[in-house]
Amino acid sequence: MLTIKDKTFVPFITSESIQARIQELAEQINQEYAGKQPLLVVILNGAFLFAADLAKHLTVPCEITFLRVSSYKGTESTGQLKEILGLTESIIDRDLIVIEDIVDTGKTLHDICNQLQAQKPASLTIATLLYKPEALQKPLDLHYVGFEIENRFVLGYGLDYDGLGRNTPDILVLE
Ligand code: XMP
Ligand code: MG
Repeated sequence: MLTIKDKTFVPFITSESIQARIQELAEQINQEYAGKQPLLVVILNGAFLFAADLAKHLTVPCEITFLRVSSYKGTESTGQLKEILGLTESIIDRDLIVIEDIVDTGKTLHDICNQLQAQKPASLTIATLLYKPEALQKPLDLHYVGFEIENRFVLGYGLDYDGLGRNTPDILVLE
């Protein structure tokens, strides 16, 4: 159990389950990207732990770059991208794997993927650790999904509540 400000969070997905699932996703990526050199596009801040743990299991040679966006205040998506920063390298003709912590309404990734596709990469797939199917509002092709979860607010393993809680190795859910 973890209390942050006015909210209490209870256990949801253990670190062991997260790590085991990440290993499976990495094996799938290793098979599907054999002979390629993908560019991992990590969405900060939330995906930093997922990307780090996933990358450690990848055996295909890959590059890693980081984007920063923010659409979330408190525990509800505003649906508005405040800011997109980063991506200094060319992505033309690159095989992109966009790495995200969670897909909620899908608006963030929908926006990001449109902007990336406009720069003509060779291919683009999405790897998200968590996915809330009931909350999805935009069509998205989610190729690698760690866990489908119910539409509740979660925290930990990169995900925050007002900036706090990203450092817990487990994922917790709002009570
Ligand atoms: P959308 O709605 O655009 O939102 O798919 C994606 C971004 O919103 C954040 N998000 C969450 N953060 N617990 C969090 O800590 C959640 O349950 C949650 N749902 C969405 C997250 O930053 C994600 O990138
Ligand atoms: Mg995020």
